[in-house]
Amino acid sequence: MAFVPYDRPVRTAFIGLGRIYDLNVRAYVNNPDVEVVALVDPSEERRVQREADWPQAATFASVAELAASGIDVDAVEALLPIPLHTEGVIELLGYGWHVNLQKPICNDLLDAQRMLDAATASGLVLRVMENYLFYEPLRRLKSVFESGELGTIAGYHMKMVGSGAGGWDVPWSSFEWQIEQMKRGRGILVFDDGWHKLSTALWLFGPVSEVRAWIGTTSFGHGIDLDAPTMIAWQHANGVRGVWDITLAPDLYLRSDYYTNDERWEVTGSKGFARVNRCTGRGVQQPSLEVYVDGEMRGYHALDDDWASSFRDSGRHWLRWLRTGEGPLMWSGDEDVDVLRFALAAYASSGSGGIGVSPAQVI
Ligand SMILES: NC(=O)c1ccc[n+]([C@@H]2O[C@H](COP(=O)([O-])OP(=O)(O)OC[C@H]3O[C@@H](n4cnc5c(N)ncnc54)[C@H](O)[C@@H]3O)[C@@H](O)[C@H]2O)c1
Repeated sequence: MAFVPYDRPVRTAFIGLGRIYDLNVRAYVNNPDVEVVALVDPSEERRVQREADWPQAATFASVAELAASGIDVDAVEALLPIPLHTEGVIELLGYGWHVNLQKPICNDLLDAQRMLDAATASGLVLRVMENYLFYEPLRRLKSVFESGELGTIAGYHMKMVGSGAGGWDVPWSSFEWQIEQMKRGRGILVFDDGWHKLSTALWLFGPVSEVRAWIGTTSFGHGIDLDAPTMIAWQHANGVRGVWDITLAPDLYLRSDYYTNDERWEVTGSKGFARVNRCTGRGVQQPSLEVYVDGEMRGYHALDDDWASSFRDSGRHWLRWLRTGEGPLMWSGDEDVDVLRFALAAYASSGSGGIGVSPAQVI
């Protein structure tokens, strides 16, 4: 069934009003493409907190209550805990609503297929948002090396340091479902936050043909097992190799308005390099993007390097897409399954002593 763009503001509901709502909501504020008609969360505290943002919207404790209310909804912003993604998305599509889902799509390929099948059967769109693809320093990094000024790409490195000090508060209820994820072997660093790094790799350099990984564990007791130290390396189908290291520094104070995650991306070419110095946190206080070529360093001081802006722009892209049907979804459900395959290849490799695994072969 071909998608027909809306010739009026899209009627939307937020499903899940937790921590990340604070950033996803930025796409909806003062946006003529959208009308927020409903808010859903079983937590009364969350509903009361968020209804102040949308006085015209109705609030509900469950999706079923919204569906029974008779309120017309075109699309939903699904901000559910990961363990609820599969059944939650199938339910939302079942009510006839397009879905913009937070990453990761889900934990395994069987569930992903069920979600894609539900979207196909209903003729609705399942998008899995990837805000990092909208982070301006990363977009500029991509355009710098695609311009050819670094020469032929020789390889690249991503770095992530998880720290426990600084940043915004994360409610314990969010950790509870993360612990559930950890028990299923889907850790918070590699699978949850790491999803973004795998996504950027695919977005920057295309399909991955082989992955080699060494995923460690650091236990803090009470079921809190963090998946670091970790090293993952891979080769893209175009021959470019990437490597990503994850280090845990629990007592390192990191200044951040959001999560305490210190991140870097560095692309090396035959003539120079380009490096994004930070993203979620405010670790390296240099220009957010630096480019070195021919003995000269160029610093980008005026990029919109507030991580929250990537949520705003990702969401605006989705809402514009619903109004026009134009351009890539960034990501479609199928594209997000490629990210899942990448992650599953890393787990398969690590579990087999670091051998090379093709994402196309994982089951
Ligand atoms: N893009 C990013 O960088 C980023 C960052 C953080 C979280 N996330 C993703 O966002 C999603 C939500 O994470 P969070 O940190 O906001 O979690 P959270 O635990 O803070 O919030 C989840 C909310 O969903 C509500 N909820 C639970 N069951 C529900 C149901 N059946 N119907 C409606 N609401 C329900 C909970 O009451 C809670 O308010 C996850 O998929 C997570 O991976 C993405």
